[in-house]
Amino acid sequence: MQLETPRLELMLPGDEAIPRIIAFYGKNAEHLLPWEPAPAPGFLTTAHWEERLARFRREQDDNVSVRLFLFGRGAGDSAPILGIVSFTRFFALPVKSAQLGYAVDREHEGQGLMSEAVQHAVAHVARARSLRRVTATYQVDNVRSARVLARAGFTVDRVIPRHLFTAGAWHDHTLVHRDFDAPRADST
Ligand SMILES: CC(C)(COP(=O)(O)OP(=O)(O)OC[C@H]1O[C@@H](n2cnc3c(N)ncnc32)[C@H](O)[C@@H]1OP(=O)(O)O)[C@@H](O)C(=O)NCCC(=O)NCCS
Repeated sequence: MQLETPRLELMLPGDEAIPRIIAFYGKNAEHLLPWEPAPAPGFLTTAHWEERLARFRREQDDNVSVRLFLFGRGAGDSAPILGIVSFTRFFALPVKSAQLGYAVDREHEGQGLMSEAVQHAVAHVARARSLRRVTATYQVDNVRSARVLARAGFTVDRVIPRHLFTAGAWHDHTLVHRDFDAPRADST
């Protein structure tokens, strides 16, 4: 899957991007730490990402996840990674839902890039995978994430107490969803 927005290209890259993936996560470790579970030991190694990218490719082929890395549009083969958008926890019929996740490079925050990527990717993945619903959760005090989801048409369902362990503590998360036209009963 390869998507384009006015400013971005979104795709699952090949192994040649591993040094840039490691650079993205290394540079953004502190930026992500308050909001995401702490990475496992070995997260910033080539071996880990070879295994992980291979798994991401298999999962995409098997319709159980879509992981898209963000690159500047027309920035060339060695373009740095500007962020990620992921769709995981795919449920087949009779549920037909997936869960959205995302992060933007700290130096590219506040430019509207994540909203641009999320809005395009959600619409495309929902259509391509015949999803009825896309869900997301965000830590209740993550105001930037709340704004991304509100702008993308997500509706707040409820707060899930002590949902995720991040930065040494359990945090309450807000659950949101966006619905799409119901897929046909025979779609996969
Ligand atoms: C959550 C996160 C992705 C939000 O990123 P973001 O850059 O604020 O999101 P957007 O792409 O929607 O950008 C919106 C901002 O860009 C500004 N902007 C600047 N130029 C713009 C343009 N051309 N078009 C649209 N917006 C623009 C908007 O005014 C808005 O600013 P504001 O938030 O100060 O009002 C980012 O904070 C992040 O990666 N955080 C760490 C990881 C994380 O929390 N992930 C989510 C877990 S649930």
